Amino acid sequence: MSAPTLDRPAAPDEAALQAQFDATIAADHRIEPRDWMPEAYRKGLVRQIAQHAHSEIIGMQPEGDWLLAAPSLRRKAILLAKVQDEAGHGMYLYSAAETLGADRADLTDKLIERKQKYSSIFNYPTLTYADVGVIGWLVDGAAICNQVPLCRSSYGPYARAMIRVCKEESFHQRQGYELLMTMMRGTDGQRAMVQDAVDRWWWPSLMMFGPPDDDSPNSAQSMAWGVKRHSNDELRQRFVDMTVPQAAVLGVTLPDPELALDPDTGRYRFGAIDWTEFKQVLAGNGPCNDERIARRRAARDDNAWVTEAATAYAGKHA
Ligand code: 3HC
Repeated sequence: MSAPTLDRPAAPDEAALQAQFDATIAADHRIEPRDWMPEAYRKGLVRQIAQHAHSEIIGMQPEGDWLLAAPSLRRKAILLAKVQDEAGHGMYLYSAAETLGADRADLTDKLIERKQKYSSIFNYPTLTYADVGVIGWLVDGAAICNQVPLCRSSYGPYARAMIRVCKEESFHQRQGYELLMTMMRGTDGQRAMVQDAVDRWWWPSLMMFGPPDDDSPNSAQSMAWGVKRHSNDELRQRFVDMTVPQAAVLGVTLPDPELALDPDTGRYRFGAIDWTEFKQVLAGNGPCNDERIARRRAARDDNAWVTEAATAYAGKHA
């Protein structure tokens, strides 16, 4: 005789769970950590969120290089706040990945072992202080364009993290533009520095949006799941349309002779992006890939004793 059982409802089968997930996505509601989700959705999110978190953390390096050489106390305080914000963004994002079952230390190891990516943009050097301004204006500007739609991403913790991140990115973009405006009102030498920085950062900023739609293996599924809301090319176009008038106000020339307003669409046409360079940077052959990873590795290894002590302390109080 079998043992008496409590009168529990039968667990829903996978097809019913999938149907519920599909209905949640179709209704444009959020998926939360305790909800059932297809394994591919979970993995895809961990992939994107980890890549995003790594970008924020690695992104501290190019500007961090200028903390000791900022031209005034005011500029130093602004830059310090900005670099600290990027660390905070990385932490929110690693936390969002943890809600999907990922382990933060494991993600860091994967970054250092180059098994996970971070944004191509942070593999370029910052040669002058004008680069700090141009990173704020173009790189953070591109990040805002890309990330504001992610505030409506279908995964709740990611979407909520993006709201705060975007508010802070907006401050970053403005401080960059204000810095450049100040330099443009300065000497000929300062104006030349700004133009030189714009020339070097323009094309890599366009690459931040990822490969063209035809060559983007993750886009279709990611958009069907409501993780990404717009395609890479759509967001890149938005960024160009938003930035060209800002360049005119600033008084710089964007380094693209083909850049022109299309009177039929009201949008800017632009020249061909060098996708070979993009692929080279992703393959680890950009100007600063080795340096960026070496520093991250040193930060992990040199500070291992702190992690160990903090873990032991937390264990005692658990
Ligand atoms: N740099 C590095 N890798 C990139 C990339 C870039 N600019 N663009 C695309 N890739 C990678 C993708 O991660 C993917 O590789 P994977 O399959 O191994 O993960 C591959 O190239 C193919 O690209 P897809 O278009 O198919 O990939 P996605 O659909 O994920 O789209 C994305 C790429 C638009 C970057 C998207 O992942 C995204 O919107 N991510 C969230 C935002 C983000 O991570 N931004 C990074 C910059 S953060 C930042 O700017 C910090 C701020 O402080 C300035």
